[in-house]
Amino acid sequence: MRTANSTIIEKDILIDNVVKISLKSDLVDLKIRPGQFVNILIGATGETTLRRPISVYEIDSENKSFTIIFRVEGKGTRLLSEKTVGEEVNILGPLGNGFPLDKVQKGQTVILVGGGIGIPPLYETSKQLKKLGANVIHILGFNTASDSFLIENFSELNKTYVSTVDGSFGQKGFVTDVIKRINLDYDYVFACGPKPMLKALENIMDNSKLYLSYEERMACGIGACFACVCKTKKSETDYKRVCKEGPVFLAGEVI
Ligand SMILES: Cc1cc2nc3c(=O)[nH]c(=O)nc-3n(C[C@H](O)[C@H](O)[C@H](O)COP(=O)(O)OP(=O)(O)OC[C@H]3O[C@@H](n4cnc5c(N)ncnc54)[C@H](O)[C@@H]3O)c2cc1C
Ligand code: FES
Repeated sequence: MRTANSTIIEKDILIDNVVKISLKSDLVDLKIRPGQFVNILIGATGETTLRRPISVYEIDSENKSFTIIFRVEGKGTRLLSEKTVGEEVNILGPLGNGFPLDKVQKGQTVILVGGGIGIPPLYETSKQLKKLGANVIHILGFNTASDSFLIENFSELNKTYVSTVDGSFGQKGFVTDVIKRINLDYDYVFACGPKPMLKALENIMDNSKLYLSYEERMACGIGACFACVCKTKKSETDYKRVCKEGPVFLAGEVI
């Protein structure tokens, strides 16, 4: 992990307030793993002093670039969304543990479950699992059709099911409704999305096969400040740092 000034080489608006940015960056030499994130220093003039954590969507080692997808939430992500091709940002990474692809054997079935802006880190995960010879299935959930993005990209890679809460696209309801309907055998489930979705998955999936990527408010991103701690099930005083020991945890490991 280190910092690198990285240049924006491509920028797209996917849907309202969801932006895709590709960056030429030496950090790619450090072998970024699917599910890892980077911490981005956005305002050069002290507008946003804290870095903002964003997951890696896709890695292009040949071109020495990687891509992120983010939703505009507040000041930091708004400033990032206003940057243009050719501008530089300072990035710290790669950070966190990523999804445990080393556990997956050729021919095993992995279900990737994503909700809303939690979906992007599952894309590189899916690509690399496919390379490993795993049977990958995507289940993507959105609130409504106009909130949906990346469905075509995921569908081109592997079998993809979609749910929307209002039924305007795909199956009506939640990702858990799709899982109950298709009733698949699986070896692993990797998931990223809002906390209620992660909790619902814990309630219906085999927790020994379920890995969840958590988002907590962060500061340093490297395990030094303890801003991102979560209690574990072990005891009242046992904590894990989401930025360092996570963001991916086996279901039930953290509360
Ligand atoms: C490991 C990790 C990976 C992430 N990956 C992505 C990603 O790939 N794409 C993406 O769009 N977002 C991602 N996020 C969330 C992103 O970091 C926050 O949306 C961003 O930091 C908000 O900064 P801001 O200055 O725009 O908003 P602020 O003004 O700081 O806050 C605006 C709103 O965003 C909420 N918020 C702030 N930080 C977080 C956070 N860490 N998690 C959840 N909500 C937050 C605040 O509670 C507030 O409601 C990730 C977060 C983590 C911890
Ligand atoms: S953000 Fe500082 S320890 Fe996790």
